[in-house]
Order: sequence, then C-alpha cells, then structure tokens
Amino acid sequence: MSGVAAERGGRGRDDRGRAAVRTGGEETMVTLTIDGRVAKVREGATVLDAARAIGVRIPTLCQHEALEPWGGCRLCLVDVTKKEWNGWEKMVVSCMFPAEEGLAVSTATERVVATRKVVLDLLLARCPEAPLVQSLAREYGIERTSYQENPEPTDCVLCGLCTRVCDEIGVSAISTIDRGAGKEVAPPFHEAPPDCIGCLACAEICPTDCIPYETSDLGRTIWGKTFEMVRCPHCGRAHITREQAVFYAGRGGVPESYFLTCDACKRKQMAKTFTTLSLAR
Ligand code: SF4
Ligand code: SF4
Ligand code: FES
Repeated sequence: MSGVAAERGGRGRDDRGRAAVRTGGEETMVTLTIDGRVAKVREGATVLDAARAIGVRIPTLCQHEALEPWGGCRLCLVDVTKKEWNGWEKMVVSCMFPAEEGLAVSTATERVVATRKVVLDLLLARCPEAPLVQSLAREYGIERTSYQENPEPTDCVLCGLCTRVCDEIGVSAISTIDRGAGKEVAPPFHEAPPDCIGCLACAEICPTDCIPYETSDLGRTIWGKTFEMVRCPHCGRAHITREQAVFYAGRGGVPESYFLTCDACKRKQMAKTFTTLSLAR
C-alpha cells in the first residue's frame, strides 16, 4: 500500500487506526526522504507505507495491511530526523510512525542494524528451526543465535497476527498466553475453543505457517475443534463451515442461506441476472 488519504481534520487513519482512503475532496500530500530518496505520499501514510511506495525494503513481521498496526516485533525500526531537530534523531517503528513533511528516514544506520540484529538473534533463539527467521537472521549475518536456544523450539514468532485477525473478525477465540520462553498462542485452557468458527483466517495469515489444520470436503479441524463442512446448494462444493455461515449471517443481518452458496456460484447467478436484465431492455 503506497499512500493513504487524510480524513478531514484527522491523521488519515480510520477509527481502528488503519490507513484511511478519502472518498472525495483534495488529498494532502507529504514529502519526505528515505535513505536520501524522495517519497511523496498522502498524509496519514506510515513511514513503512512510504518506503514501500518507493521500493525501499524494511523487514517486518507483525505488520499486515488488513490489520491496524501493532508495533510488536520491532523489526521495522528506522531512524528519523528533521531539519529543525538540529541533528537529533530518534528510532521509531516505521509501521506506526506517520510519514511527515520534511522527515528524513534512515533505514540502515549502525544502531538500527544493531538493534535489528538483537531482535533477530533473540527470535532465532526462540525459533531456531523456523525458515523465515533463519533467512531474516542470515540477511543480517546471523547463522546461529548467540543466546541459549529454546529447548522446545517453536516456529511461532509471536507476531500476534493470528489473534488480531481473529479479534478483527469479531470472534476472539485465541489469545497469547504465558510469559517468557513459554509464551504461545492458544485457545483458553488449551481446549477446543467454543467460539471458533473454523474460518482458517489465523492459519492463513500466519507468516511461519505454524498453525496446523486439516480441511477437506468432509470436515475441518483447527485448534482441536472439528467442523462439519456445508456444501454449496448449486455446485455441491464444500466451502464453508456451518459455524461460519451462522456467524456471518448473525453479524451481517443477511440470511444464512446467502453464505451457503459459494462465491463462484454467486458470481454466476449475478452474471445471469445482469444478462437477463439487459436482454429485457
Ligand atoms: S479459525 Fe477460529 S481461531 Fe482461527 S481466526 Fe477463525 S475463528 Fe479465530
Ligand atoms: S501462530 Fe503465527 S500468526 Fe500467530 S503469533 Fe505465532 S507466528 Fe504469529
Ligand atoms: S512490523 Fe513494525 S513493529 Fe512489527
């Protein structure tokens, strides 16, 4: 996502903190530099948005454009300064810090690189076998962690994307529990979460693919809970769990039957309706 428009009187973020897009009126643009290159983005964009807009790569783990920024992994740290700050610089998380007029961003200063190395070294201690962590660490010259390796290696980098997407859907079936090395994402009491609707959003967003699940026409299992799959009444494809259909219907005020038809069949039906209408003209 390159830039975002400013809401009138706001910072260009919606009420959930995500980049907002103005639907009308003029856009306010801000100009900043990133590693000496000029970036011009709409007010409300983050420094990370601006960097991506001009092709400057900043490593991230806990950021996802569908979710409001959280700033938890600290991997996207950068140095920022302004002319009027008289040489003073501060380190900020680029996925949250707003792109401001006149801001000068440095993505790879000595202290930024050193801090990222510490973050990755610690992550490698927690997740020594996670390919994503290994490859990020390798980019910073780290082959093995200098800390004590987790005796119970996990691929979970604690990015919080899974719990946040589940919250965003409105289910909140899983959360981060425990502390230190034992910190993990799990359902309450490690039991099949009663609220889970089996949508798989948590597994699909996980950057290290560490949430196991099984899905087939016959059923779906995730977090120890098994779901019956519902077949599309038109094509017979098993595409949704009963719990998903009930949840979406309840939230959207739309009949459950609407969600039982798969997206492909909905598109076909819509095309048929349009064709019939245009022939009738
Ligand atoms: S599968 Fe369950 S836990 Fe995962 S996002 Fe969907 S509702 Fe939440
Ligand atoms: S399970 Fe995956 S998405 Fe959830 S916190 Fe761990 S790494 Fe992130
Ligand atoms: S991506 Fe910015 S703190 Fe994680």
